[in-house]
Amino acid sequence: MKLAKSAGFCFGVKRAVETVYEQIEKQKISDKKLPIYTYGPIIHNEQVVKDLEEKGVQVLNGREELEGLEEGIVVIRSHGIGREICRIIEEKGLICVDATCPFVKRIHNIVERESALGKQILIIGNPGHPEVEGIRGWCNSPAITVESEEEMENLEVEKGQDICVVSQTTFNYNKFQELVEILKKNGYNGSVVNTICNATEERQTEAKEIASEADVMIVIGGAHSSNTRKLYEICSKECAQTCFIQSLADLELELPKSVRLVGITAGASTPNNIIREVQSYVRNEF
Ligand code: F3S
Repeated sequence: MKLAKSAGFCFGVKRAVETVYEQIEKQKISDKKLPIYTYGPIIHNEQVVKDLEEKGVQVLNGREELEGLEEGIVVIRSHGIGREICRIIEEKGLICVDATCPFVKRIHNIVERESALGKQILIIGNPGHPEVEGIRGWCNSPAITVESEEEMENLEVEKGQDICVVSQTTFNYNKFQELVEILKKNGYNGSVVNTICNATEERQTEAKEIASEADVMIVIGGAHSSNTRKLYEICSKECAQTCFIQSLADLELELPKSVRLVGITAGASTPNNIIREVQSYVRNEF
């Protein structure tokens, strides 16, 4: 059995989830017992969010809910938030516990600095994603978000304007390169900062390596998790017997008994305890 080292939570998500649990512990021994909120679900994993809910942590769905608060602790998830949301938290006298991933925070710093120098910020990413919304929120002038070739071809920026390009941390690297090529081909100049996080790529490369050796490859993750689906796709190409499971319950039905090497990987929002359960089951069975 071979478990991918990069399976499961990336560094930033792990840190954010741990931050919330730490806050719960702190409030248990504090006199004030302040309510704890997360700005948006801390992670796209129902079990974790439910467990936190049972421990009293409430999810704030957007700005209005935040504005309605009187007191409490607001934990910022790894995606980060814009300056405006920070301001509201401060004005309301709430305690902000910032678990923005340092790799995302670095992008905030870049766009804040570069836009203050008069550069047009161009974000390569999904405009509706909270991380991109947060990045936009640190620009001193309106940023442009580009996701497709077509949008890049039709970019409406004056040719002489200096541009600073950054990327959503989870954007596909090849696509990012293609979009930057279009920008250059069309005669734009400026700085390009590749801010893609390598956690996703590392996980995919490792999954591919393990799947190429394995007889059965197990991919653990949420049914709606796009990064887990991507892992499944990659592994299926290398290993015909690749199964996509959400938890151990799905696996028991599917795993054939006559295998030599079982590989395991997991999407970014799969908690360790689920990975461990699958791992020990596989270890006992084979
Ligand atoms: Fe995770 Fe931070 Fe990278 S949240 S995917 S380590 S940018």
